[in-house]
Amino acid sequence: HVRTTGLLGAATPLLTACEGPQSVLDPAGSAAELIARLWWPTLFVATLVTLLVLTLLTVAVFRAHRKQAALPLNARQSRNLVIAGGIILPLAATIPFALSSFSIGRTIDAPLPDDAMTVEVVGKQWWWEVHYLDEAGDRIATTANEIHIPTDEPVRFLLKSDNVIHSFWVPNLQGKTDMMPGRTNVTSVTADEPGVYRGQCAEYCGTQHALMAFLLVAEEPERFDAWLEGQRQPAAMPETETQVRGHDVFFEAGCAGCHTIRGTSASGDLGPDLTHLASRRTLASATVPNRIGHLGGWITDPQHVKPGSRMPPSELTPEELKTLLGYLESLE
Ligand code: CUA
Repeated sequence: HVRTTGLLGAATPLLTACEGPQSVLDPAGSAAELIARLWWPTLFVATLVTLLVLTLLTVAVFRAHRKQAALPLNARQSRNLVIAGGIILPLAATIPFALSSFSIGRTIDAPLPDDAMTVEVVGKQWWWEVHYLDEAGDRIATTANEIHIPTDEPVRFLLKSDNVIHSFWVPNLQGKTDMMPGRTNVTSVTADEPGVYRGQCAEYCGTQHALMAFLLVAEEPERFDAWLEGQRQPAAMPETETQVRGHDVFFEAGCAGCHTIRGTSASGDLGPDLTHLASRRTLASATVPNRIGHLGGWITDPQHVKPGSRMPPSELTPEELKTLLGYLESLE
């Protein structure tokens, strides 16, 4: 009894680790549901096979140790052993998974209706550029590292890269899909419940691959519509004296060379669009929360937050930094 309790106690953290905002085993949408349904039997059979192999290996080692080697097999016996153990058993263990994997893949990749909502995501080094498209395929809003979708509605994702290969993956919602330079891969995401899920680049793409993450926010359709309408608007005009000064600092410090703020003359396209920066939950691709202290640290010394990042450090005076932060915080 004590042993059982101990085992259960040891298994609890393992099982809790299956829940959470970035887990294949905590599906929140139909595609992830199918993937999880394949994952569990795969784990079960793989565990059985591993245990079987280890048991046979142990028996063989002990027998050899005790010099109880089996009698040599005759030709017919060894042929049967090869056919059964080398061909039939492995095929029996793998063919059902190959077939159900194929069928699940077809279901997940079934084309969506033409009028389905479409989001274009471009993999950057090391962040995500996100465009919302209208029915004609024109970009109506641009953001970065935070994707909102309405619940209970399949959303089409057009996945691209203009640099190296990345892979788009929101474990709670869909299977990973590569983003290849020169082509557009398509995947779809349906979220059953509102929630904030974490996505992660799933293809090694350089220094900051591990911190190339994003949030996928699934929300009720009305909330989503309000969010998208907000993202479509140009940036808020600087109002207070601090914001006006911060707006000037933004241009003097050269930020506009890499960043766009719609509604101003800043139209750089190397870094994320900052038009509604303050509306986002995180900074630097879900590396740190979007709070004023983190924003100040990020602007001052990006290499400390995310070594290898393409964002250059700045040399602002404390006064300039304060006004710049005041302006950026107003970009809701
Ligand atoms: Cu992008 Cu790994």
